[in-house]
Formats: sequence, C-alpha cells, structure tokens
Amino acid sequence: MDKKITIAIDGFSSTGKSTLAKQIAAHLGYVYVDSGAMYRAVTLYAMENGFVSPTHLDKEGLVSSLPDIKLEFHFNPEAGFGEMYLNGQNVEKKIRTLEVSGLVSRIAEISEVRAKLVEQQQHMGENKGVVMDGRDIGTVVFPNAELKLFMVASAETRAQRRFDELTQKGETVTFEAVLENVQQRDHIDSNREDSPLIQAVDAIAIDNSNLSREEQFELVLGLVNEATQL
Ligand code: DC
Repeated sequence: MDKKITIAIDGFSSTGKSTLAKQIAAHLGYVYVDSGAMYRAVTLYAMENGFVSPTHLDKEGLVSSLPDIKLEFHFNPEAGFGEMYLNGQNVEKKIRTLEVSGLVSRIAEISEVRAKLVEQQQHMGENKGVVMDGRDIGTVVFPNAELKLFMVASAETRAQRRFDELTQKGETVTFEAVLENVQQRDHIDSNREDSPLIQAVDAIAIDNSNLSREEQFELVLGLVNEATQL
C-alpha cells in the first residue's frame, strides 16, 4: 500500500477547499480537518460571551478565556466528516451563519488564538493520513506536507457559491452582502500580520472557476498519486 501523506489545501474563502478535501479524504480513507471551523467556533464562543460584536472586540477578555474553550471534531457517519463541537455542544450549524462569517477574520487575526489552534491542528496531523484545509496549512501548520494545493477562483464565482449554499439552508441574504463579505475576508486574510494567506512556494495552484467538481477531483487525484509514490 502507498505511504500515508499529509495534504494541505489553502486558498481564499469559498474556493471549494472543503468539498475537495472531503472528496479526497473519503477516497483515501484519510481524516479530514476543517481548520476554518475551529476559527469559526472560537468566534461563536466570543460572540456568545460578549467578547466580539460588529462594533467591539475585547481581545484581552477573549485571550484570557482561551483555556476555557474546548474544540473537538466528532465523526458523523451520515455526513461523512467530523462535526465541530464547542465545549461539548455540536455547533456545526451555528458556525456557518453570515454573522459568524462577518466576525471570524477579526478573531483569526489574534496571535494567541492562532497559536492555540495551530498546536491542536499539528497534533491532529501527527500520524499523517490527513487532509486539512484552511489559510496557513501549507505555510505554518504543515510546512513539510507532501502535497500542498492553493485554490483560486474569482470573487464573483465564490460569492455565488456561498450565496447558493446559504439560501439553500434557508438564510435570507442578498448576493451583494455575500460578495462584500467574501471581498472583506479576502482583504483581512491576506493582509493580517500573523500568518497571512499566501501561496506556499511549493504549493500547486488550482483555479477551479471553470472546472467541474469531477474534473477537479480527477486532477487532484493524479497529484495525490504522484505525491504518495515519491
Ligand atoms: O474556511 P472558512 O471560510 O470556514 O474560514 C473561516 C475564517 O477563518 C477565514 O475567514 C479565515 C480564518 N482561517 C484562518 O485564518 N486560518 C485557517 N487555517 C483557517 C481559517
């Protein structure tokens, strides 16, 4: 059997990282880790405990509460992936709202938050056989990953995908609000001081604006096969 590797998938929001990561993990029997869900769960905690709102951020308060935040993924066989639990509660739905999306970049800028989550992510990847998606996986979390992908798609394509996803879930949002959120997060994610979103020098860029899910999957499977045989 081929050796187990670490696969790091980074890129802007809504570039289809998680769809691809889940497909690849299911195909290889690897563990899928959605690192963005962890930043979202910390954001939800911060919202629920009054540390963040659209008009304020109590960074010190949140940082001193970090030891009280317990994050776990519990595999849901029906969904086919690990769902996010915050202090014992399934928050998979709550972390996907536009409200959380609007605040998460500010929380993800905090170095103490990043240090805590990166340590946990590295621990989850210790035994390889993991596909993790996020913003700094190939640069910071797993700089030695055998395969690094960097996903790209236009802001409009990405906003349309997120808009379809949210409206399917019954959320009332406008396309303009979703596009604005995508552009805002691109800006903050790329310009923050700690671990900004950049393409690792050894990452392979994949622009999927004009690729179907199947085409993308086949393309990446070829790259995985090459990487496992090296
Ligand atoms: O992948 P996502 O959209 O669910 O991620 C939510 C936010 O979390 C995103 O705006 C940036 C942040 N994030 C990060 O800074 N580092 C990661 N590894 C993953 C996500």
